Amino acid sequence: MRILTVGGGGREHAAVEALYRSGAEIYSVMKNANPGIIRRAKGCKLINERLIDDICEFAIEHDVRYAFIGPEAPLDIGLVDALEHIGVKCASPTKGAAMIETSKSFMRRLMTKYEIEGNIAYSVFRTPEIAEKYLLSLDTEVVVKPVGLTGGKGVKVQGEQINGHEETMAYVREVLSGAGDDDGVIIEEKVVGEEFSQMVFVDGKRILPMPLVQDHKRAYEGDVGPNTGGMGSYSDANHLLPFIPAEARDKALEILQRIVDALGEEGYPYRGPMYGQFMLTRTGPKLIEINARFGDPEAMNVLPILESNFHNLVKDMALGKLKEDSVKFKNLATVCKYVVPKGYGEESESGHEIMVDEKGIRDCGAEIFYANVDERDGRLFTGTSRSIGIVGIAETIEEAERRCEAALTFVRGEGIWVRHDIGKNEVIQKKMDRIMNLLS
Ligand code: AMP
Ligand code: GLY
Repeated sequence: MRILTVGGGGREHAAVEALYRSGAEIYSVMKNANPGIIRRAKGCKLINERLIDDICEFAIEHDVRYAFIGPEAPLDIGLVDALEHIGVKCASPTKGAAMIETSKSFMRRLMTKYEIEGNIAYSVFRTPEIAEKYLLSLDTEVVVKPVGLTGGKGVKVQGEQINGHEETMAYVREVLSGAGDDDGVIIEEKVVGEEFSQMVFVDGKRILPMPLVQDHKRAYEGDVGPNTGGMGSYSDANHLLPFIPAEARDKALEILQRIVDALGEEGYPYRGPMYGQFMLTRTGPKLIEINARFGDPEAMNVLPILESNFHNLVKDMALGKLKEDSVKFKNLATVCKYVVPKGYGEESESGHEIMVDEKGIRDCGAEIFYANVDERDGRLFTGTSRSIGIVGIAETIEEAERRCEAALTFVRGEGIWVRHDIGKNEVIQKKMDRIMNLLS
C-alpha cells in the first residue's frame, strides 16, 4: 500500500522507519533532505510542508491512498482536509480537530464546557491593559503563552524564564504585538509537579495507549535554560515511569478519552496520534497541553519498540477501525538524546558539518533518527533545529542510557550540543524523591 508522509524531522524518520518495517510503499514530502527518510522512500519531494496544493499534486501523481502528517504546522492550515477531499485517508487530524493543539484557548474552553478533569485556571487576553489588571489581582505564579502554535518555544514560566511583574508584562506585550486576529495571550496558573507524556492512537472514537515517556524541554542540564522542542526523553520497560504510578496513567487516559469524546460531540472527530502532556500534582494529573500528533522526541522512544504493524495502525486510525488488540509494544526501556546545534533554544549556529558512524551506533544497541539535517554531496550539515536523535534500547533505563551514551560517541562535529543528564540514575532518583515529597 502506498502512503504519503509529511515532515522531515526525527519524529517523521521514526514513523517512516516503522512504516517501512511493516511493508508500506512510502512517498515523502519534507523541507530538508533527511537521509533517513530519503533512503526508505520510493519518492520524495523537498518543498515547504505548508504548500498544500503541491502536496496534493504529489499524492495524486503517486496514487497514494493513505497519509500520515508528522508536524503541526500543515495540520493548522488544513492539509488533512485537502487530502481527504481528493480521496486520501489520513491518520492525522483535520484543521478543526487539530485546534486541540493549535488553539490553547479552544483546548481549555472545551475542557471547561465538558467538565473534564485535569483542567487548570486560565484566562485569555487580547489587550495588555486588561491582562495587567488580571495579573495584579493574583497572588500566585503564572505561565504566559501565546494562544497559537509556538514550536515549543513560546512558553514562559514565572520564577523560571520570567521574574516579577515587569518582566511578565514585557512578555505579555511581546506576545500580543506578534499575534494575529484569532490569537492572543493565555495566562495560566503555574502548576507544580512531575511531567509526563501520554500518547494515544485515536480513530475518531477509541483511544489506545502508548508507553509513558518523559521529555526534557529545557535546553541545559539540570532542567534550566530556555524551553525547547525537547532535548531528549526516556521510557521504561513496564510502560510506566519510575515516578508515575498506574493510577495517574489511568486518570490521564480517562482525560484523553473524554477530550476525544468532546471533540466528536463538537463535530471534530479526531483521528491520528494524540499527545497529552501532563503534570502529576498533589491533586492528580493536570493537563498542560495537547498535541495533535506524536511528540518529538517521544515518537523515537515508542515507535522502535512497537510490535504491531504500524502501517495497519495508520489504516485503522484513518478508517475508524482500531480494535482493543491493535497495539502492542515490547517491554523494553528507551533513552533518547537529541544532538542539537549549539545555541539551540536561543540562537542556533547552523550549517556545521556533522559526522555519523551508523554501524558504530547500531553496534552499541542504539538507533539513529535523522532530524533537521541536510544531506549535500554525501555530507551532512546541521540546520537551525534539532539534528539527530540517538535512542538506546535495553531491558532497563540504566542500560538504555549507557547504550545511548556509547552510541553518541559515534556522532561528531563542531557546533553540536547534547544534554547528557537525560535518563541518568541520579536524575531519575531526584524526581522520585520530589514526587514522594509532593504526594506525601
Ligand atoms: P509547552 O510548550 O506547553 O509544552 O510548555 C513548555 C514547558 O513549560 C512545559 O514542559 C512545562 O514545563 C512548562 N509549563 C507549561 N505550562 C505550564 C503550567 N501551566 N504550569 C507549570 N509549568 C508549565
Ligand atoms: N516533545 C514535545 C513536543 O513534541 O511538542
